Amino acid sequence: MKLLVTGGAGFIGSNFIRYYFKAHPDAQIINVDKLTYAANLNNLSEFESRPGYRLVRGDIADARLLEDVFDTPLDAVVHFAAETHVDRSIANARDFIHTNVLGTYTLLDISRKKRIGRFLHVSTDEVYGSLAPGDSADEQSSIQPNSPYAASKAASDMLVRSFWHTYRFPAVTTRCSNNYGPYQFPEKFVPLMITHLLEGKKLPVYGDGLHERDWIFVEDHCRAIDRVLEAGRAGEVYNIGFGHPVPNLEIVRRLIRIVGASEDLIDHVADRPGHDRRYALCTTKIRRELGWEPRVGLQQGLAATVEWYRANPAWVASTRSGEYLAYYEKFYSHRDASLAQL
Ligand code: NAD
Ligand code: DAU
Repeated sequence: MKLLVTGGAGFIGSNFIRYYFKAHPDAQIINVDKLTYAANLNNLSEFESRPGYRLVRGDIADARLLEDVFDTPLDAVVHFAAETHVDRSIANARDFIHTNVLGTYTLLDISRKKRIGRFLHVSTDEVYGSLAPGDSADEQSSIQPNSPYAASKAASDMLVRSFWHTYRFPAVTTRCSNNYGPYQFPEKFVPLMITHLLEGKKLPVYGDGLHERDWIFVEDHCRAIDRVLEAGRAGEVYNIGFGHPVPNLEIVRRLIRIVGASEDLIDHVADRPGHDRRYALCTTKIRRELGWEPRVGLQQGLAATVEWYRANPAWVASTRSGEYLAYYEKFYSHRDASLAQL
């Protein structure tokens, strides 16, 4: 398979590239990434000189750049690129509309014109909105996004749906729950709590901390994407989740125990505006149809994640210092230089 991966220098995209090369050593991957603040080239340094891997710095909303990339024959597109942090979307959603909506449209349009045989759109459980206790969303549930981020992802899902319905463009959508694991930018909940714990800092829990999320280890998500890419039906949506939503406070307490710190560090801070109370997914479809199951338990996954952050303080420092942004400027200031390597 020759894949175009978008957003492969971010958290899930880089884990996916690592997973995919391990599972399919002969694969070829072109990674188009704008290298925003959320990207980190250290996530992929082991692949820099690997035959069959190329990074192209670029914006998925740039049709001309995509035209150039698509000059190489491709078997499939796996679309991760997005603005992803809810709090940032509350502060200013412009970049979210640009990348998640216009970027997805631009990628869909060119992929269709180039007759791509498979397009996997990576979406989120947040499009279903907040669920009542005991409820879970299946793939037919109504779309009720509540944050500007979730609304931009819901818009992208609707574009994908329309391309299947109108053009029979062979797209499939996955909607996954909250991921955690190595290489996650430390503004997100789990790595933020871990890095604060390792540094003895307070743990900022929004509101009462009883908001529930269905945490899945990132490698389980990557394996599910691989399975959907292989055997998912075009035009369909597949939910992906671990299957056990837990309150944020429970995650914080588990992390505290793993690190061996004190619960006195918990600091209840002002709540996120419009904070969704509960996400929960019905994942029967992917389990029955494609035989996928998560393999990493919550305790095992959290312990492995703590170990990874403990072992990689330089990676954490590089994401915070902005040093990596200077690095990008130096090495990837020329779009054409990257393209010439394709
Ligand atoms: P991330 O923020 O870690 O990485 C996003 C990547 O996209 C970065 O490398 C960034 O540089 C790149 N990017 C941003 N704008 C771009 C543009 N215009 N053109 C090209 N590249 C661009 O995100 P993540 O957490 O790895 O999420 C990846 C995907 O998975 C997203 O589509 C997200 O909505 C979805 N998702 C995430 C989670 C989660 O818990 N993190 C759960 C379900 C679904
Ligand atoms: O559900 C999937 C989604 O999960 C993805 O689509 C998003 O891209 C991803 O960012 C994530 O969104 P959340 O808003 O659920 O994740 P976040 O890590 O920001 O927050 C998780 C929970 O923890 C949420 O209830 C808010 C809370 N929280 C978060 C932060 C950053 C805190 O209590 N304190 C914090 O400092």
